[in-house]
Amino acid sequence: MTESAHLYAAVITGFEKVASREISEKLPATECFSGRGNVRFCLDLNSVPDILKLRSVDNLYVVFYENEIVGLTDMEKEKALKTIKQQLSYCNWELAIDVYQLAQGKNIYGGSDLVVDQMREFMREGKRCEVTENSPKFRVTCKRCGEKEIHTFSSMDAASKFGAEINNAFGWKCSVKEFDIEVVLRIEKDNMTVMMALNDESLFKRNICAYGPTTMRSTVCYCMLHLASIKPGDVVMDSMCGGGSIPIEGALAWNTAFFLGGDNHESAMERCKKNWSSNSSSTKSNCEFFNWDATNLPLRENCIDALVTDLPFGKKIGSKTDNRLLYPILLNEWKRVLRKGGRLVVMGHDKRTLEKAILADRSSWHIKANHIVNMGGLQCLCLCLINTKRFCRILQDRVGLFLDLPTSSISRRGNLPEQLPGLTGLESRWQDQQNGMKGAVWFPGCTNFHRSEDSYNGRIGRIPIQMRAATKWNGSFQRSMSGSAWSSGSIDFQNSESTFQ
Ligand SMILES: C[S@@+](CC[C@H](N)C(=O)[O-])C[C@H]1O[C@@H](n2cnc3c(N)ncnc32)[C@H](O)[C@@H]1O
Repeated sequence: MTESAHLYAAVITGFEKVASREISEKLPATECFSGRGNVRFCLDLNSVPDILKLRSVDNLYVVFYENEIVGLTDMEKEKALKTIKQQLSYCNWELAIDVYQLAQGKNIYGGSDLVVDQMREFMREGKRCEVTENSPKFRVTCKRCGEKEIHTFSSMDAASKFGAEINNAFGWKCSVKEFDIEVVLRIEKDNMTVMMALNDESLFKRNICAYGPTTMRSTVCYCMLHLASIKPGDVVMDSMCGGGSIPIEGALAWNTAFFLGGDNHESAMERCKKNWSSNSSSTKSNCEFFNWDATNLPLRENCIDALVTDLPFGKKIGSKTDNRLLYPILLNEWKRVLRKGGRLVVMGHDKRTLEKAILADRSSWHIKANHIVNMGGLQCLCLCLINTKRFCRILQDRVGLFLDLPTSSISRRGNLPEQLPGLTGLESRWQDQQNGMKGAVWFPGCTNFHRSEDSYNGRIGRIPIQMRAATKWNGSFQRSMSGSAWSSGSIDFQNSESTFQ
């Protein structure tokens, strides 16, 4: 038996990095790299039984042939199809059957030994294998990527030619609807890959039995929840949960956290309860649903650790005009209930309205990550935001504010306290750098000293949140730092304590 296999995971376009992270966290995968809508990795065969536990992946395949067929794009149709068919004998069928059996936990009649024998006879004597009652059922699908007109044949032509050859070699029965084995050809220009599907039904079809007009795939829910960095004991909320797909996926995947879902649609609660109770693990009590208005939540301030939600897109539910009113109100309410440093992961199709609403209150949110995600053909924006109150507290506790000074100000370093009136107790320190002098100031007692990478321009802080904290003290300060006028002395540090509360 081969020791390891190359696997191909079809994932949601836009969430490839999240899927890669899950794969690396849960499996001893090597050579993990992502392409558009897929992640490929190499895995020891001992770990194959664990792959169907991945939650960010829509479909999984084992790659058992990959090669360039020189001149495929220029070949006449008959020759191209004959060449494709001939690749069958170069495929590693033994590996494909071994990995399939390990992943599915069930055996194909005769296993990989029979397939190897059949292939040997087929190649040596051209012996066709007869279909028997034990023969597995199979189908072949072909996906051609990139420009399709580049080939003289259609995807259907390639699939049926390759399928006919499988039938000749192994005597498997072809069945388009009810099949045990699915062989997938992927052809891109002159490159051909042959894979075998390792899951029967797409992995995103889990958790939900009562569908609504905007039910989200469980795999998308998982990726959004993963972005929220959920920790044991966290309270996680979806304040507009529809049929509950996000809280249900969360409760099943993170059983040490607690999930709340709510919606104001009359049928939503019924669907949530049906969906939750249809899951075998729903005997657990880490998920609750509520009928509420997300713009006026019956929750006290700072009680939620993470909020993961998908907004009404303004297509099937609501309208873009509604969104312009709704999104800023929602953000305000979320800011209230999220604790300091709490995470907000939000998906929206109305990208402009969402971005505008966040920009209008940018000092309250730090944008940690953004993803453009393909949701059934719609390009959506998924943002991971941090409620900045928490960072202010960290600044207060440990670091305070630091300022990197422009080179032009170095000569005046001796006068720093006078140039920044109100900075009582502030120390200034200076460092010799290769390219000249750089300076920084910070509150005494801080445990960290940050130095900005581009301090020559002179600006406050290295990370945006610190800049925002600073602009809260005095809106004009950030602008005045960009030139030598930074010494205008208009910062009111005396009031910083109250700003941080
Ligand atoms: C995009 S859908 C959510 C779909 C959900 N993720 C699912 O998979 O079923 C948006 C939801 O927001 C709800 N909604 C809209 N305005 C609301 C409000 N003010 N309060 C609570 N829910 C609201 C709608 O009823 C709808 O179910």
